[in-house]
Amino acid sequence: MTAAYPYTIWEPGATIGVLGGGQLGRMFAMAARRMGYRIRVVDPDPHPPAAAVADEHLCGSVADPDVRRRLIASVDLVTYEFEHLPTEAVQELSQHRPVYPGPEVLRIAQHRILEKQFLAAAGIPTARFWPIRSEQDIQAALSQIGTPAVLKAARHGYDGKGQVRVDQPDQAVEAFQQLRTSEAVWEAWVDFHTEFSVIVARNLRGQMVTFPAVRNWHRRHILDVSVAPAGLPEEATRQAEAIAQSIAQHFRLVGLICVEYFYTEDHQVLVNEIAPRPHNSGHLTIEAAVTSQFEQHLRAICNLPLGTTQLRCPAAMANLLGELWIPQAPRFSLVCGIPGVYLHLYGKRGATVGRKMGHLTAIGTSPAQALRRVRRARHLLQKSACDTTPY
Ligand SMILES: Nc1ncnc2c1ncn2[C@@H]1O[C@H](COP(=O)(O)OP(=O)(O)O)[C@@H](O)[C@H]1O
Ligand SMILES: [Mg+2]
Repeated sequence: MTAAYPYTIWEPGATIGVLGGGQLGRMFAMAARRMGYRIRVVDPDPHPPAAAVADEHLCGSVADPDVRRRLIASVDLVTYEFEHLPTEAVQELSQHRPVYPGPEVLRIAQHRILEKQFLAAAGIPTARFWPIRSEQDIQAALSQIGTPAVLKAARHGYDGKGQVRVDQPDQAVEAFQQLRTSEAVWEAWVDFHTEFSVIVARNLRGQMVTFPAVRNWHRRHILDVSVAPAGLPEEATRQAEAIAQSIAQHFRLVGLICVEYFYTEDHQVLVNEIAPRPHNSGHLTIEAAVTSQFEQHLRAICNLPLGTTQLRCPAAMANLLGELWIPQAPRFSLVCGIPGVYLHLYGKRGATVGRKMGHLTAIGTSPAQALRRVRRARHLLQKSACDTTPY
């Protein structure tokens, strides 16, 4: 077993295993390779986005003991880029190589009932909720919480998948059946004023830093646009930062954690969910922060001093989803002429509706200008995807 002590440092040249080869793994690998680390990505997909920038791709699942053996033999430490991993396999892996963030925060964050119960036990405000494991629980949820509500599968939900809005009590049982799951959370619908998120990084020696809050807009439950600075009242920001830091402390987190919040009309700060990894709302830190979230995650897990989280300038990010490729791929060259706009494409094969294919970041002199730029840039792409005249 490999024990890590607060003074253990993984210097550049070390090899990091990354569980999951999506865009988060890819952007993490880019930051890590720039700083001289080696990356082994584990993903069952034969062509995951991160494989193109990794030193090696182990094609398979961490649930496979043979894949774990190969990983243990070839890496110094392990991280992950998504939380829907088999916990027992990750636990077993952590007996041989440090896994950051640790298996405990992963176990909680990947299960919405455990996550909500953890938050409630810590006295952290959330939307009112009720655990659902049977149709009897639905009746209890209807009388305790009522409608409108959102029913969320306990496991494997992301980008709005595994969620159904319930407006009327008579839709409840069908909504549960529709989720095809044995465990779910019934959550009161929150008429929020704003959604925002805060990312905290903590390293093995306990150093902790917090990124400025980012304001987020979702469409069909998928992140659409983010902007920083978020322009929130100071008190809301202070509360959210304190909550995120207390969660990181509670788990003795090593790595990043993103906390998503609702800010309600009556000035309450409610936690929506937590994710112990780099986050879509942190992509704008690549261009706008002194240290990007990906470099920060690397610094945190390798126990390097953490970087400055300060923003160099206001910035906005817009996701590019698969529908933008319909009926044809956009002409990306169009956005390259707009000052302050940066294009990120993840190299995914096969654009489908709702699939995150890339994003745009725009920097500006104000958040409003950055938002205008990024929306204009994406609009140009949308128009070009529909324009079938030859050029
Ligand atoms: N209780 C709720 N009330 C209002 N909107 C919600 C609620 N739960 C989720 N949403 C909307 O759906 C989005 C995605 O839900 P979330 O629970 O964060 O799941 P995911 O894991 O897919 O990000 C949220 O960011 C928010 O816009
Ligand atoms: Mg979310």
